[in-house]
Amino acid sequence: MSERVFRVWRGSGEGGLAEYRVEVNEGEVVLDVLHRLQATQTPDLAVRWNCKAGKCGSCSVEINGRPRLSCMTRMSVFEDDEVVTVTPMRAFPVVRDLVCDVSYNYQKAREIPSFTPDPAKAPGDFRMSQEDVERQQEFRKCIECFLCNNTCHVIRDHEENKEHFSGPRYLMRVAELEMHPEDTADRRLIAQEEFGLGYCNITKCCTEVCPENIRITDNALIPLKERVVDRKYDPLVWLGSKIGVR
Ligand code: SF4
Ligand code: F3S
Ligand code: FES
Repeated sequence: MSERVFRVWRGSGEGGLAEYRVEVNEGEVVLDVLHRLQATQTPDLAVRWNCKAGKCGSCSVEINGRPRLSCMTRMSVFEDDEVVTVTPMRAFPVVRDLVCDVSYNYQKAREIPSFTPDPAKAPGDFRMSQEDVERQQEFRKCIECFLCNNTCHVIRDHEENKEHFSGPRYLMRVAELEMHPEDTADRRLIAQEEFGLGYCNITKCCTEVCPENIRITDNALIPLKERVVDRKYDPLVWLGSKIGVR
């Protein structure tokens, strides 16, 4: 057991950092220490969490400036005398303390047209190659922690972009559907024009913070950009759009 200094964001809107000295035991994660603070010093500390196993995506915060899951951040990653500063995700409005209003993300999720299979095919008749299955499975590992959306500079420092940018999480969802062999909808134009794919300049910060190690940029965003370009500059598509057949 040792005593550590924690700085934790308190309040909403005009909040600030409060400093605590708190006991830490071997093997603990940051969420354990936040719970100890609640139990021993500050029972009104607002913290969102659910599974404590890296699977529900609720406990996203920023720890010493890095977006992370508090339940998966071991105290052993810090130096013995390092102060641990825990703040809420910066891209979303703070409700109170470490809890953010992440409704922007759910709004963006609702805007995406759902899976559109060929109505002539019965569900049992769907066929997918193993390569397609694996591609879809990678995207399906997402736990909706929204650390990627929180990190992307397009909205992190530019609230005004939120209306026109779905963030890496939901551009990945568009890519997932666009690459699904049984989906019949063409999502390339809406990816660019409605979900803001063009704002992404491939900085890959989203991929770096993803706790599920999903290769968001390489496997979803770049292939989606390639498909958009193919559609935009395909002379047959251009001709078809002019005569109204595509
Ligand atoms: Fe979280 Fe990764 Fe899903 Fe983004 S893609 S919401 S970082 S799990
Ligand atoms: Fe943002 Fe990821 Fe693109 S961080 S700019 S969505 S590569
Ligand atoms: Fe569920 Fe951290 S509490 S991911």
